[in-house]
Amino acid sequence: MSLQWHEFANKDELDLNLAHSIAEQLKQAIAERGTASLAVSGGRTPAGMFKALRTSPIDWAKVNITLVDERWVPNDHADSNERLTRENLLQENAAAANFISMVNESATPHEGLAGIELQLNVIKWPIDILILGMGDDGHTASLFPNAIELEAACASTNLVAAVTPPAAPHQRITLTLPTIAQARNVLVHITGTGKKELLNTAMQEQKAITDLYPIRRVLDQVKSTAQVYWTA
Ligand code: 6PG
Repeated sequence: MSLQWHEFANKDELDLNLAHSIAEQLKQAIAERGTASLAVSGGRTPAGMFKALRTSPIDWAKVNITLVDERWVPNDHADSNERLTRENLLQENAAAANFISMVNESATPHEGLAGIELQLNVIKWPIDILILGMGDDGHTASLFPNAIELEAACASTNLVAAVTPPAAPHQRITLTLPTIAQARNVLVHITGTGKKELLNTAMQEQKAITDLYPIRRVLDQVKSTAQVYWTA
């Protein structure tokens, strides 16, 4: 089964349409269950979408927001996904949402895991909406190819796992593959022709591809429902 792609003329159109879809899904979750939950990715791609989403007229006080993954840095660090989310999403209407951090005072994510697992229990799992990015190496969340913890993070029954990226900076904490795959709605947010080609390559049928790209491992479990939002 092939993925469902939504393609847009430019980044502004993509950001507006993706923000609209997320807001509609949050509204629906609130209507059905009384509260809603959203996990967002960091990196360079989401800031514009965050700014479009934060003005949505929904009951943000009923929304729990957390991260798909975090770099193990203080939450005011330039590379912190929490800082990116606080500065760009948790503003205006969305300032009323409850944010659950993915870092604590522990020296390493491995030591901090149990505490984060407890913090995340505020959310009624499975999460309602989860937004994935994708790196140029086919990683998604912090499921990095060749990371020593990759197989454990793909098999774990915990909510989160610690990961050491082989090439990218900072140790990471990430939702595990089973946690991601159980999300009620998975949206993939990517830009650029290079990432489109990479995602198409990762989804090819050859068996040799399957284990190479973590994005493929995730999408194999959710591809009948996952939606890809893309612009060049
Ligand atoms: C992170 C992420 C990560 C990200 C991809 C894409 O903390 O880095 O959450 O999985 O989504 O690396 O990053 P860009 O948007 O910067 O290309």
